[in-house]
Amino acid sequence: VAERGTRVGFIGLGRMGVPMAVNLARAGFDLAVWNRTRARCRPLEQEGARVAADPADLAAGVEVIVTMVADPAAAEAVYLGEHGALQALPDGSTAIDMSTIGPNAVGRLAAAASARGIAFLDAPVSGSVSVAEAAQLTAMVGGPPEAFERVRPVLAAMTAKQIYLGRSGSGATMKLAYNAMIALTNEAISEALVLTERAGIARADAYDVLAAGVLASPFLDYKRDAFLEPDRQAVAFTTALMQKDLALALELGRTLDVPMPATAASNEVLTLARRLGYGDGDLARVADTLRGHPARD
Ligand SMILES: NC(=O)c1ccc[n+]([C@@H]2O[C@H](COP(=O)([O-])OP(=O)(O)OC[C@H]3O[C@@H](n4cnc5c(N)ncnc54)[C@H](OP(=O)(O)O)[C@@H]3O)[C@@H](O)[C@H]2O)c1
Repeated sequence: VAERGTRVGFIGLGRMGVPMAVNLARAGFDLAVWNRTRARCRPLEQEGARVAADPADLAAGVEVIVTMVADPAAAEAVYLGEHGALQALPDGSTAIDMSTIGPNAVGRLAAAASARGIAFLDAPVSGSVSVAEAAQLTAMVGGPPEAFERVRPVLAAMTAKQIYLGRSGSGATMKLAYNAMIALTNEAISEALVLTERAGIARADAYDVLAAGVLASPFLDYKRDAFLEPDRQAVAFTTALMQKDLALALELGRTLDVPMPATAASNEVLTLARRLGYGDGDLARVADTLRGHPARD
């Protein structure tokens, strides 16, 4: 079982990856990191992590590798591309992908890993940047159960809950269902806020009601500032990344003959959000998309 001092490699120091890797370093793991844009490694260097030259260089010296990159193409690049991690991982090591890439990409990566004697777990997370900083994410995990037990302390350094769901791809599938719910919740909040403010109710007062009633939730709490003052808040999760998730969810629905009409409608609103220039903006920009203009105080 992984313990303090276990050599762990981490790839993907984006908005989520930085706080997750910082929590690994602070939990006492012997950490090496790699990110495509090297400058983003700086906060981890300050935590004492070694910066590797490329994914293969990182992989060569570790027992566990964790990846947190944007999408299926990015995950396949860091594992299977030139200087990819998979070719260099030692026998008996474990790879954990925590990005949201869907079950098809997980299937390809798990098969390639298995051919090399490497255990592969899909362990995407729910929660956002503030939740990652507090190590309060929930991991949903698929793959070999013994590998899960072995690396559970690594997951526990970054997450409050680790829920094992079964065979490879189960975590990735669960995450798509989960994010479809997040998109719908975000859409519902946006519609309620824009409707009530057009009717003359102060936005903050309306938000107080939403956050206090039976629909109160951690999501409503941590999104409060993003919805009330979108121009003053750091981006937590972009509309472009959410649309990547909805596309994967709708594809899965089509494959399994499960209609997802509300998810499809929410996906169309995200297309409009990107068209209005909010692609790199936070998900709360869906409200601005419905307003037809940026929020004014
Ligand atoms: N933000 C959230 O609230 C949240 C919550 C749960 C799950 N997620 C999921 O977690 C993952 C990361 O999200 P994030 O918000 O941290 O995204 P982000 O800030 O956009 O970071 C993306 C990371 O992926 C790397 N990357 C992208 N394309 C690459 C490629 N072709 N090769 C190598 N590296 C590549 C980026 O490297 P560079 O620095 O070089 O661009 C960066 O490190 C996504 O799958 C997302 O859907 C996000």
